[in-house]
Amino acid sequence: NKKITIAIDGFSSTGKSTLAKQLASYLGYVYVDTGAMYRAIALFAMQNGYITAESFDKESLINSLTAIRLQFRYNPELGFAEMYLNDVNVEKEIRTIEVSSFVSKVATIAEVRAKLVEQQQEMGKDKGIVMDGRDIGTVVFPDAELKIFMTSSASTRAQRRYDELIQKGDDVTYEEVLKNVEERDYIDTHRDNSPLVLAEDAIEIDNSHLTRDEQFDIVLGLVDEVT
Ligand code: C5P
Repeated sequence: NKKITIAIDGFSSTGKSTLAKQLASYLGYVYVDTGAMYRAIALFAMQNGYITAESFDKESLINSLTAIRLQFRYNPELGFAEMYLNDVNVEKEIRTIEVSSFVSKVATIAEVRAKLVEQQQEMGKDKGIVMDGRDIGTVVFPDAELKIFMTSSASTRAQRRYDELIQKGDDVTYEEVLKNVEERDYIDTHRDNSPLVLAEDAIEIDNSHLTRDEQFDIVLGLVDEVT
């Protein structure tokens, strides 16, 4: 079977990363979580005081972009790659509700997107990759052989994210998580730079009422059709 590029886009907390990881490990492909890269930049902006609840100093962030080095390093114990920001493992820190509340603002900046898209294209140049995000099928790999667009209702997605955060011991309410999911949906679909849109040739999957296995079987069927 020939190696292909699989682009998975969609709203937050649709289970894109779970599906993408499952696919990558089944096919022996590389998995790249591009949301982690935007989250790491948001964390950097927070650590340097460039973004707070009150203000966002875009200029300073843009000027320090060359000092930001992002890497995925595979952790054999976990079976997946973790995000490193300037050689520090930030995998846990980038998943907090604070980072989630700032990341979509950071992701509107054209210079941030240009830097990350370039790095993503480099990672995928040999194909055999499953990448998930918001602009993978439209901007990063417009020629991907398979494009999936995942959706499910905001309440289903908020419940999933809430359960995840609670399980990790985070102190959040369901309302807070729902509000964050809805805010990110809005910003992600309304920004000028690479908004989240359904690529013309993407296949939409609404998984509100699908089990993980059902969803996986559907996508494997699609992979078979193009390889
Ligand atoms: O996928 P995840 O929810 O971790 O992504 C966090 C945020 O990063 C998204 O809400 C979006 O604002 C931004 N993002 C993006 N483009 C991508 C991946 C993520 O703008 N390819």
